This record gives sequence, C-alpha cells and structure tokens, in this order.
Amino acid sequence: MRVVVLGAAAGGGFPQWNSNAPACRRARGGDASAKPRTQASLAVSADDRSWFLLNAAPDLAAQILATPYLWPREGLRSSPIAGVIVTGGDVDAIAGLLTLRERHAFTLYATAEVLKVIAENSIFRVLAPDCVERRTLPLGEPIALPNGKGNDSGLVLTGFTVPGKVALWLEPEGRDPGVVEGGQTIGLEVKEPATGARFCFVPGCAAMTPALEARLRGAPAVFFDGTLWRDDEMIRLGVGAKTGRRMGHMSMSGADGVIAAFRDLGVGRKIFVHINNTNPVLLEDSPERAEAEAQGWTIAHDGMELTL
Ligand code: MLT
Ligand code: MN
Repeated sequence: MRVVVLGAAAGGGFPQWNSNAPACRRARGGDASAKPRTQASLAVSADDRSWFLLNAAPDLAAQILATPYLWPREGLRSSPIAGVIVTGGDVDAIAGLLTLRERHAFTLYATAEVLKVIAENSIFRVLAPDCVERRTLPLGEPIALPNGKGNDSGLVLTGFTVPGKVALWLEPEGRDPGVVEGGQTIGLEVKEPATGARFCFVPGCAAMTPALEARLRGAPAVFFDGTLWRDDEMIRLGVGAKTGRRMGHMSMSGADGVIAAFRDLGVGRKIFVHINNTNPVLLEDSPERAEAEAQGWTIAHDGMELTL
C-alpha cells in the first residue's frame, strides 16, 4: 500500500494568503527551513492503478499536478481517482470536490451528516449524480473499496468517531457548539487485507479517549491532528482570538497534548498533518520542531510517501 501526502497544512495552508507573520514571510521568501505546504489531504493505493483521496482540499488541482500517480493514463479523458473519502464538512476537507467536476466517475464516501451538508449546498451538484455516486460511510464498520471498474481495489476502509466540532462555517453564530462525537468529524482507518498493512488518518481531534486509544494502539502508521503546538498559540501571536480547544483541536505539547497521549500507544510511524501556519514545528530550525522529532514524530510535508 502506498500513501502520499498531497498536503500537510491546516486550513489556509502555509503560507496563508493573508498572513504577514514571520513564519509565513519566511515561507513566501523561499527560506529552505520554512517549506510551503498545501492543505491536508492524503492519497492511497494498493495497486498503483486506482487511487483514493482522503479529503479533497481547496488545493486539489495543484496537488494532482504535483503527483504523477494521479495523472490521467488512459484515453483522452480519465483519472486513476476511484474514490474520495471526507472526514468532515470543513472547507479544507470538501472544497476540492469542486475541482473534480468534468464528468469523471468516482464514489464519494462520507457520513450521513456530512453527505447532508453537501446535499444542502447546491454548488456540489457540479458532481453530477449520474456520474458521482455518494455513498454513506457507516461508522465503526469496515467496507471494501471497489476500484474504478467496480472490482476489488485491495483496500478496506473504516470510518470511526473522534471528539470534534461541527464545521466552522456551520457553527451557530457567536456560540461555541461544543465538542461532539458523531458523524460530523471522523477518523479513517485504511487496511490492505492481503498484506495486513494499515494506517489511520485523524486530521482533527479534540481529545484522546479510551476508544480512540484502542483504535490507534499498535498501528503501523498514524497521521494525526498537528494543528497547533500550544493551545493559545494564535492568541499569543496576535493573529486570532481562538484557542485550539475552541476550534476542536488538541495541541501537540502539554500534559493533555498529542505527544503525551501517544507516548504509550506503540504506534509505528507517528506523523503530524493538518499543521497550522502558526505552528513553530513548520520551521525546521525551531526548538519545537527538534522536540517533536525527539519524541519520535515526523512533520509531514507535501509529496511525502510511505510504503506500508
Ligand atoms: C479546522 O480545522 O478547524 C477548520 O478547517 C477551520 C477552517 O475551516 O478554516
Ligand atoms: Mn481543518
């Protein structure tokens, strides 16, 4: 099974278009220690012929262009993309679906809650129903992923609940919707039964729970929410009023942070994705980057590949 990081940054990307903060200025200026990153998405394949996208980021057109595995190979119009699985209704998870118009047949997998959000936004009708099948992803139940020709792709997918928030743009005005655990924000596990390879993708998570620990324990690879280094990072930098907690994201550091939560889980490859432009781990010369790496974490970058 091959996994490619199409994008490693959180919503907004790195540099974010309107950020004049020092880290974004470094990224924009070509500093080799502040590499640009597009918004979080993975591509996975068991056979290198049919590919599945985990989230469709607003940068998807550029991500496909940067990834030869995803280029057309047959006839005058085609794509190896057989399916797209989305983990929530956030802009950074679904806006790339609009890039996939042009009558290519694929299957869109999401929870009932997220499919409802997509159905209520008529712009997504550009994915014509006679071409793009929308399939409800059951939670906690493995499903086989068929390839573009309806045959076995070699991959099995399980969606599972994690504590999280409703998409930012669906929040009731001026009110914290609170953390929920249901179909609004989920994690994904992808398995290749033929080899036993598997990994998890959890780009947004508000807290570690015993059920999530059980799911992640011993996994050969986990891509996990790396939005912020510390909870009040955006406030301290003067670029926002919200804490990570308010946004539904655990932070990397601290006693209740991701690094501490993973310490005894025995995960093989621990990889941060969905990294916000304010997170100092994006800077290769920062002490926080050294600390995360010393704790066994990899900071994902666009184009990173894993063979499991
Ligand atoms: C998030 O991860 O909190 C959201 O993607 C925020 C956003 O929509 O920009
Ligand atoms: Mn996001």
